[in-house]
Amino acid sequence: MSVPDHRPRFPGTPLAVGVLGCGQIARTAHLPAYAQYDVPVVAAVDRPGVAAGLGDLLPAGATAYDDVDAFLADPRVEVVDIATGPAGRVELVERCLAAGKHVLAQKPVVTTPADLARLEDVVGAAAGRGLRVAVNQNARWAPAWRLTTQLVRAGAVGEVVGVTHLHDKPLPPIAGTPFDDLDHMLLTDYLVHWFDITRCWLEGERVETVAAHDSRVPGQPAAARNPWHASVHLGTASGASASIRVVGDARTRSGGCPFWVHGTRGTIRGSILLGSDRVALEADGTTTSYALDGQWFVDGFAGAMGELQLAVTGGREPENGVAHVAGSVRLGAAALDAVTSGLPVTGLGLDLPAAVTA
Ligand SMILES: NC(=O)c1ccc[n+]([C@@H]2O[C@H](COP(=O)([O-])OP(=O)(O)OC[C@H]3O[C@@H](n4cnc5c(N)ncnc54)[C@H](O)[C@@H]3O)[C@@H](O)[C@H]2O)c1
Repeated sequence: MSVPDHRPRFPGTPLAVGVLGCGQIARTAHLPAYAQYDVPVVAAVDRPGVAAGLGDLLPAGATAYDDVDAFLADPRVEVVDIATGPAGRVELVERCLAAGKHVLAQKPVVTTPADLARLEDVVGAAAGRGLRVAVNQNARWAPAWRLTTQLVRAGAVGEVVGVTHLHDKPLPPIAGTPFDDLDHMLLTDYLVHWFDITRCWLEGERVETVAAHDSRVPGQPAAARNPWHASVHLGTASGASASIRVVGDARTRSGGCPFWVHGTRGTIRGSILLGSDRVALEADGTTTSYALDGQWFVDGFAGAMGELQLAVTGGREPENGVAHVAGSVRLGAAALDAVTSGLPVTGLGLDLPAAVTA
């Protein structure tokens, strides 16, 4: 099998981007990724004074706006990169589409099944006008996860039997941040990337069971409101299963996020984050380790934008489109139902169709 190219890809002439929401993640990941990959950023907007404060992060010639309507009226902006939290997401996407812009929206794209249904309607109607909406599931382009997705889709492990993730690293700072105000934050925000990549590796399956449990852990400071442990288990109609486990704030400096994809023909072993990035495929008695180029932060952010732009220029649905990511949102919603009810969700009947790929 030839080695898939896991690096971000863009059309020959990248589309011009306007950034809506200039907070932490836009400053530390979106804008640096676009600078690294020569994606033209022509405008940015936030509350009064915020976009102007981006300084050198905003390229020369780009306009800093204080007003979303003025920003959306800028004819140079072809793609709006929404880097806000999920509150008001559907309305913002709708406004961008009404202005004739394509949209890349940060995760969590929405947080409730009702908002997901509204978003699917809005996105479906815009597709008829040639407008595309993708979700910024940038971890899909974290090099080790991207290569694994490509190997799984190419059948390198045969039929997937099990997906396993272990979070073997410290948690990012949560206590005292707005994220600690979210209920069951690990499930509703942090693990969104893990639900999403698991959804990618279980393409073609029907998820029937979602069990989830979270808890405070020994040594967790009282000021940290959210449970630091979360475990999620998925069962599918075929008998394939998946598990995602955050033990807490692991006390280690050499950790990472190891993962395994076990299949009927072989096994992929890998890891992401903290410099642990690696992928090895063991199949048919041979183990192949792959060279990886780049990092989740920030190459993954270029990958998510590049896929949207290729979909726009190719006249197709992006593989990180709302229709595909909807499966990840529904998995997260089922996990939240399971922790809040204290009972596994059974009989879910959630189909995870394959992505439309280039
Ligand atoms: N790897 C990742 O993909 C990753 C990492 C961190 C955060 N995130 C996600 O990114 C999102 C933003 O996180 P953050 O930490 O940057 O938050 P933040 O609060 O630092 O930034 C959000 C910005 O959006 C602006 N904003 C909100 N609504 C707006 C509106 N209607 N019009 C104009 N500006 C508006 C706010 O003023 C703020 O400056 C969250 O959903 C978070 O989960 C993703």
